[in-house]
Amino acid sequence: MPLVPAKDLMEWAEGENVAVAAFNFNNYEFLDAVCRAAADMNVPVILATSEGAIRYMGIEVIRPMVEATVGRYGITAALHLDHGRRFESVLKAIRYGYTSVMIDASDRPFSDNVAITKRVVEIAHPLGITVEGELGVLAGVEDDVSAERSVYTDPEEAKRFVEETGVDMLAVAVGTSHGAYKFRGEPRIDIGRIRKIRELTGLPLVLHGASGVYGEYAEKLGMEEARGVPDGILKEAIRAGIRKVNTDTDLRMAFKVGVLEALREYEGIDPRKYLGRGREEVYKMALRRLEVISKP
Ligand code: G3H
Ligand code: 13P
Ligand code: ZN
Repeated sequence: MPLVPAKDLMEWAEGENVAVAAFNFNNYEFLDAVCRAAADMNVPVILATSEGAIRYMGIEVIRPMVEATVGRYGITAALHLDHGRRFESVLKAIRYGYTSVMIDASDRPFSDNVAITKRVVEIAHPLGITVEGELGVLAGVEDDVSAERSVYTDPEEAKRFVEETGVDMLAVAVGTSHGAYKFRGEPRIDIGRIRKIRELTGLPLVLHGASGVYGEYAEKLGMEEARGVPDGILKEAIRAGIRKVNTDTDLRMAFKVGVLEALREYEGIDPRKYLGRGREEVYKMALRRLEVISKP
């Protein structure tokens, strides 16, 4: 099965009234675990790398490695650039076989965001590549950019943004943030805002910073103040129009738990012994996330 544009997966999600999970990966262990989980659940998946992940792995190896893994598990998947902040990074991803790209100029003024996103659409669409844009600013850390305060996406502005750029998917700021510390008090997402943006744009919407940050993992890692998006709220967001749900933090936490537990029992030097345990935990977490996201 070749890699497909994320737009095809959005159509599937629309038909099923579910969302597609986008998982970030930085190495083969994560990629393998996520593809195995998608195969077991019989659902499509979006495999995402940030600019940092590309720097870590080397862009030349990513598409071949992804294609081989997707083929091995017989799944349907898109290869996606997550938070492409520079026009050049997006061009590079396109050149190296990505089937979907995100241009994230959400920290720039509206007109600049429109201009750069539109340029990406003009290049990507003739090649059949899906484009995700972002409007609004998430709190917390977005790759190299940190936003002190979030700015929620304005629905009317989102309508104009979509009309002027022609993007296929829109990332919105509705209360989440990246990383393990998303909420100080009660977790809250502006579901009404999702509904409104959806109504005005008609587009598949993307929820960044969507990890659940599950208590048992936070506890094992000594991250007592960590808070994520509860599964029930995530399902509500999906019912309101979220079609792509990004998860990175949950996989990172699961991997660390697996590696730490393995190293507690194992004193040898064979990396497969502890990376393998990390991979197993990532697989279990990907299954758990897919249950919520693609089979809600
Ligand atoms: O959106 C942020 C993702 O978690 C990627 O994080 O830039 O550290 O790879 P990263
Ligand atoms: P989390 O940090 O909640 O996993 O979000 C990941 C993300 O949005 C990647 O783009
Ligand atoms: Zn993100």
